[in-house]
Amino acid sequence: LKKIEIIKKSLIEKLLLVKNQLDLKQVYDTFLSKKSKINQLIGELKNFTIDERKKIYEIRSFMQQKFNEKVIEIKNEELKRKIINEKIDISLPANNFSILGINPLYLVEEEIINIFLGLGFSICESNDIDSDHYNFELMNIPKDHVVRDMQDTFYLDNELLMCTHTSHVQAHVMEEFKGQPIRIISPGKCFRRDEDDLTHSHQFMQIEGLLIDENINLGHLKKILEFFIKKIFGLNRKIRMRNSYFPFTEPSIEIDISCDKCNSDGCVNCKNTGYIEILGAGIVNPKVLIMNGYDPKKYSGFAFGIGIERIAILKYGIDDIRRFYVNDIRFLNEFKKI
Ligand code: FA5
Repeated sequence: LKKIEIIKKSLIEKLLLVKNQLDLKQVYDTFLSKKSKINQLIGELKNFTIDERKKIYEIRSFMQQKFNEKVIEIKNEELKRKIINEKIDISLPANNFSILGINPLYLVEEEIINIFLGLGFSICESNDIDSDHYNFELMNIPKDHVVRDMQDTFYLDNELLMCTHTSHVQAHVMEEFKGQPIRIISPGKCFRRDEDDLTHSHQFMQIEGLLIDENINLGHLKKILEFFIKKIFGLNRKIRMRNSYFPFTEPSIEIDISCDKCNSDGCVNCKNTGYIEILGAGIVNPKVLIMNGYDPKKYSGFAFGIGIERIAILKYGIDDIRRFYVNDIRFLNEFKKI
């Protein structure tokens, strides 16, 4: 037992000299590891009386406790040292990082939204994912309709899909407004199994518009769209309005803008047509009004779906739609000053 008292004293003396983790490890190896003297004694307990055994255990746990206290002390000292050494000098000049330009799609989106807010439209949110029922059925596109071929998309299951246009918002809004007049726009993402080329992408953005009220006709739609286009492109751009077909509007139209690359002479950008299509629109089909709880004898309305990428292409003279999505810093920096 005397021997152990000496070991204990020696541990306490050694602990006083400990300055870092390395010293700690040495003390541990000598006094507390499996090979240490005290643990060797514990291996021979049968040679001791019960009282002596008790004492040996007491001394060992005392030594362990002293060691643990030292571990905490050393850790705290190291932390203090670290904090002092790693002091941050907030008066140093900042790293020179550059702020990039904003993606032109957002510039265009904001510009379009502001024009329609000025015309008394409010904004509704659109989902990227919706059901077949809202995206197609309530828009008068039943399961076997040929239009589904042009708007094939990515399906999550039998019912849920990635929206092919923002027109699904129309059905939601009509459901919410419960037969009352409507005047909304709704920006959103669209997904289609389209071949990517200079003006098509499998993912793109649209802004939907829907106005329902008494005595609304094609003249109102034409006036609003002309106003919008002149605001975006100025007065000198050539506009082409032509007949089209959408199951949810009757009659339907599409609007093209003269190609900025060839000024409507025809080039690779506009596939030799001289024009690029920017939007589809029309008078809301009475069938859609009825399906969505509106009385076509009382109300009529118009709707439109504007392609944001196409507007940005024509407005800023961008040669390939894919430039919007690749985060090329040189491209984005072009829009710093705008
Ligand atoms: C529609 O999506 C109709 N929902 C628009 C509409 C709304 C008509 C309300 C009537 C009433 P369309 O498939 O033509 O129509 O697309 C509208 C616009 O989205 C196009 O003019 C074009 O600007 C843009 N767009 C369509 N497909 C792509 C694509 N793959 N990549 C980029 N833009 C596209």
